[in-house]
Amino acid sequence: MSDLLAGKTIVITGASSGIGRAIALTAAKHGAKAVIVSDITETPREGGEPTTKAIAALSLGTLTKFQHADVSSPDDNDKLIAAAEEFGGVDIMMCNAGISLSADGADVSAADFQRLMAINVNGTLFGAQAAARQMKKLGKKGSIILMASMGGLAGAAVTLAYSTSKGGIVQMARSLADAYGPDGIRVNAIAPGSIDTELLRATPGVASVTEGFRLRTPLRRVGQPDEIANVVVFLGSDLASYITGVILPVDGGLLAVI
Ligand SMILES: NC(=O)c1ccc[n+]([C@@H]2O[C@H](COP(=O)([O-])OP(=O)(O)OC[C@H]3O[C@@H](n4cnc5c(N)ncnc54)[C@H](O)[C@@H]3O)[C@@H](O)[C@H]2O)c1
Repeated sequence: MSDLLAGKTIVITGASSGIGRAIALTAAKHGAKAVIVSDITETPREGGEPTTKAIAALSLGTLTKFQHADVSSPDDNDKLIAAAEEFGGVDIMMCNAGISLSADGADVSAADFQRLMAINVNGTLFGAQAAARQMKKLGKKGSIILMASMGGLAGAAVTLAYSTSKGGIVQMARSLADAYGPDGIRVNAIAPGSIDTELLRATPGVASVTEGFRLRTPLRRVGQPDEIANVVVFLGSDLASYITGVILPVDGGLLAVI
């Protein structure tokens, strides 16, 4: 498709399924040198072959590797980033892994809330920190991209915990942009609207309001994982060299209207 990511190594968490998988495949199509696929399982939630096999099937010569990592573990994040050294170190870190809850809302249980925060918030921070440490060590002016959500920019009763976690990621992106900017490392976040993945389909509260979102979305449709992946290619590429600290909605216009 292009050589926008030529020579770059991208690490993607939660890349076996959904948006992360689309990012991995799209990065390969845009010339990434190496795509490191990370997740707690190699099996895509929506079915199909593992992401590394799908990348190999593109026959683009992309180097690829699966690295198991639970993002809520600092050690796993360190091992994941260490795995990138074999490919020259991480140039683009995509902190994508995240979960939603089947029983979210104002009565969310303490255990569910803590599990969600451990993955969505702690996991995002630990991944970004590990990547930045390596970028600084290797003198790379890298790009770190966090996965927020429209749920982090607006709240809803059915997504109380999820929205709280994604709102945290919004401020994390701005704060990390300030922290790492002097080293030439850019940090941005993407805030997707409703994207057609298993996460959306399998979360009862969210699934129940998706049709309402669709009808209010100016483009009148849910998004596809590729439409988020294309934005990652831009933010990860040198075309975005002066963009940092930005929270970019990719939502068909939903947040622009009331
Ligand atoms: N689908 C949407 O509508 C939507 C909207 C806004 C934001 N997002 C965000 O996009 C990201 C990807 O979501 P998706 O829709 O592709 O979901 P998905 O469920 O299809 O994929 C998420 C992947 O993350 C992995 N994962 C779960 N826990 C993990 C952990 N502890 N460590 C590492 N990996 C783990 C899962 O195994 C899965 O492969 C999430 O952060 C999600 O919150 C999704």
